[in-house]
Amino acid sequence: MYDFDTPAPRAGTGAIKWDIRSSAFGNASALPFWVADSDYMSPPEVTEALRDAAARCIFGYTVPTEGYREAVAGWIRARHGWEIDTNWILPSIGIVSELSNIVRCFTAPGDKVLIQTPVYDPFGNVVKTSGRTLVENRLRCGENLRYSMDFEDLERDLASGVRLMILCSPHNPVGRVWTEDEVRRVAGMCRDHGALLVSDEIHWDLIAPGFTHFTAGNAGTPDNVIVLTAPSKTFNIAGLKCSNDIIPNADLRRKLSAWKETRHMEGPNNLGWIACEAAYRHGAAWCDEQNAYIARNARLVRDTFAEKLPEAGISPLEGTYLMWLDISRTGLDSRRVCEELNRAGAILNDGYRYGDDRFARLNIACPRAQLEEGLRVITGVLRGILG
Ligand SMILES: Cc1ncc(COP(=O)(O)O)c(C=O)c1O
Repeated sequence: MYDFDTPAPRAGTGAIKWDIRSSAFGNASALPFWVADSDYMSPPEVTEALRDAAARCIFGYTVPTEGYREAVAGWIRARHGWEIDTNWILPSIGIVSELSNIVRCFTAPGDKVLIQTPVYDPFGNVVKTSGRTLVENRLRCGENLRYSMDFEDLERDLASGVRLMILCSPHNPVGRVWTEDEVRRVAGMCRDHGALLVSDEIHWDLIAPGFTHFTAGNAGTPDNVIVLTAPSKTFNIAGLKCSNDIIPNADLRRKLSAWKETRHMEGPNNLGWIACEAAYRHGAAWCDEQNAYIARNARLVRDTFAEKLPEAGISPLEGTYLMWLDISRTGLDSRRVCEELNRAGAILNDGYRYGDDRFARLNIACPRAQLEEGLRVITGVLRGILG
């Protein structure tokens, strides 16, 4: 049994989530439920590998070893049922910077790039800051706040000349784990319309019990897909800046490699490789226990809301550790509600930044005691507004 109850002492370590509370929110003592990383320790197997590496005192230039590539491919085979060639792996230093590289490499200024909103805000920023045209395919919020894709709209948008689509799978912030049918449909539509499908699957290991992630890599369109993955969310090692593009098509791989090379972009640092390999070789049990822990945290949020705030809804959490709270009954926009929450001692992300001002995002990857304390603040503030 691993320990998720002991808080990692992150304040004062430079942690964005903890150490910019004052400058970003004006409340240095508020509990942070915003940035998507975790507030318990990383797996001991990862920490031990890093300690061993530090003890060897060798920090020169490195490339990904065959052992690294095999560990990545082994994880993908065992956890996601996708057989990949180790040559398909193109390591990168983070998904957002890689999205920016991919958009710039495979599209031209003015080209249409599609995202499905509400969604993780850097997607839209990457498209806009690179001078491409943003196309928004709105997700549909259905009964019980479960989201689905609007395939008719998607078809129309893709037919209008979209060159590249960024899929968020599982989806941050609406919490959907897209079904095999949904992923296959998206992949097929992208292929039929000549759009490159870039599937951001950074959350693919964070899956609630009873759900199964289906990777776009298995959707039958290997020449037309790039899957972006990382151990960063799963094992809480985002600061080590190590992610992996999986690119089955050799031409796409060569083009992106050459594009990055001519811009002198290098790969992850050697501690990033070491942590990633250790996590993928030895982290399966930790990952399973974490998913069970997150599911219990999600249950606590649901039960607390049902008891104290039945007017506020929550989207079902099928994947990720980010809960999407419907605060529309307050009659206030999410920025205003989040300001009140910050002042009272709980920092959440307002839904405005993701494209829906009626929601707020709550990160529950933390020790239960921290979540309980946060819920006291959140329910108190919302009860006060709702009357
Ligand atoms: C969907 C998604 N993609 C990418 C990232 C960030 O990835 P990275 O730190 O590798 O840039 C996040 C972080 O929350 C995310 O939710």
